Amino acid sequence: MHYLITGGLGYIGGHMAILLHAKGHKVTIVDNLSNSSTLALERLQTICDYKLRFSCIDIRNEDELYNYLKSINDIEKINGVFHFAGLKSVSESVMHPEKYYENNVVGTEILTKTISSLGIFNFIFSSSATVYGDPERLPVDEECRTSSTNPYGESKLLSEIKLMDLANSDPRWKIVALRYFNPVGAHESGLFGESPKGVPNNLMPYVFDVAIGDRECVSVFGNSYDTIDGTGVRDYIHVMDLVEGHLATLTYLDKNSGFNVFNLGCGKGYSVLEMIKTTANITCKNIPYNICAPRSGDLGTVYASTSKAENILGWKSKKTLNDMIIDQWRWQKNKQTKIHNL
Ligand code: NAD
Ligand code: WQD
Repeated sequence: MHYLITGGLGYIGGHMAILLHAKGHKVTIVDNLSNSSTLALERLQTICDYKLRFSCIDIRNEDELYNYLKSINDIEKINGVFHFAGLKSVSESVMHPEKYYENNVVGTEILTKTISSLGIFNFIFSSSATVYGDPERLPVDEECRTSSTNPYGESKLLSEIKLMDLANSDPRWKIVALRYFNPVGAHESGLFGESPKGVPNNLMPYVFDVAIGDRECVSVFGNSYDTIDGTGVRDYIHVMDLVEGHLATLTYLDKNSGFNVFNLGCGKGYSVLEMIKTTANITCKNIPYNICAPRSGDLGTVYASTSKAENILGWKSKKTLNDMIIDQWRWQKNKQTKIHNL
């Protein structure tokens, strides 16, 4: 089969490309390089035997996107689309909300319009646990009410609603929104992983920057939550498990049309201090931290109910917290030493 991956040079899309290639599928990537680089492409090509097709396109550029996808689809029919392209910084979205609506919501609309005009109706969307806002209950299940607490979350929620409306308007659509919890880890080769531009927003890239010596100290945002040690608890999931969940979704789409949503998480929470201490143990590095004020709008505990994905997709995460940290550490060290001159 042949799949299009938007944002395929980014953290999760890149791992999706590796997995699809490993399963014998053809992969075409479009990415505007806003949060990635041609170095990421080189790394992916090394893993995938230089078999990936790539074009630097912004999905909002309707004419360019249409012309490129038409030319590709004419040669080799695209069987489905994995839509990862998007901006993902909560803090940036608060400063520049329009940028998020424009890139994430309008981008998704232009993409779905373009692929439908080419007869492509299988669509897997990267959504986020952020659509649950302050969750109604724990573990968070897909029936919990949705709400948004920032423009990034709103952009995911709006995209989901528009995708649901689209699926309701035309029975040819087969659309799934996957709500990711907290992806961490890297491909086990150590050749590809997350490479955020600038200061990392998320906890684990920051913790690894401190472990490797690039940053001095982790700021722990609050220690007065009602959790095991007072620090925030989240559901961390290995990125390879996450992309396996997308493969299971492809199988689901073979037999199901319309719109559906699934959580992709492990169903278990770890605190910030547990994450820091486990990383320090595995890496044998000192990871200094300071307890700071809570981050505005942050939540104490969030972890997923995984029952729906298990029962309907037949998917369950397999990798442990140790696997996540070992694999991300291998990548962090390789990234640091600029392996293979890439
Ligand atoms: P990422 O920034 O590493 O990857 C996104 C990629 O999309 C980047 O390579 C970027 O250059 C590209 N891109 C952005 N806007 C584009 C546009 N208009 N046209 C073409 N390419 C564009 O992010 P990621 O962590 O891989 O996340 C992928 C998706 O998953 C995003 O939609 C994100 O919102 C969602 N998500 C991520 C997380 C997380 O913690 N990483 C959690 C939940 C949901
Ligand atoms: C995890 C825990 C922080 C950084 C965010 C987005 C969400 C989703 C995933 C895309 C929390 C604490 C963090 C730091 C810290 N992204 N922390 N020091 O908050 O679950 O979710 O990323 O969809 O939309 O909101 O993840 O990694 O930012 O934080 O103490 O330097 O680590 O307070 O408890 P979060 P995170």
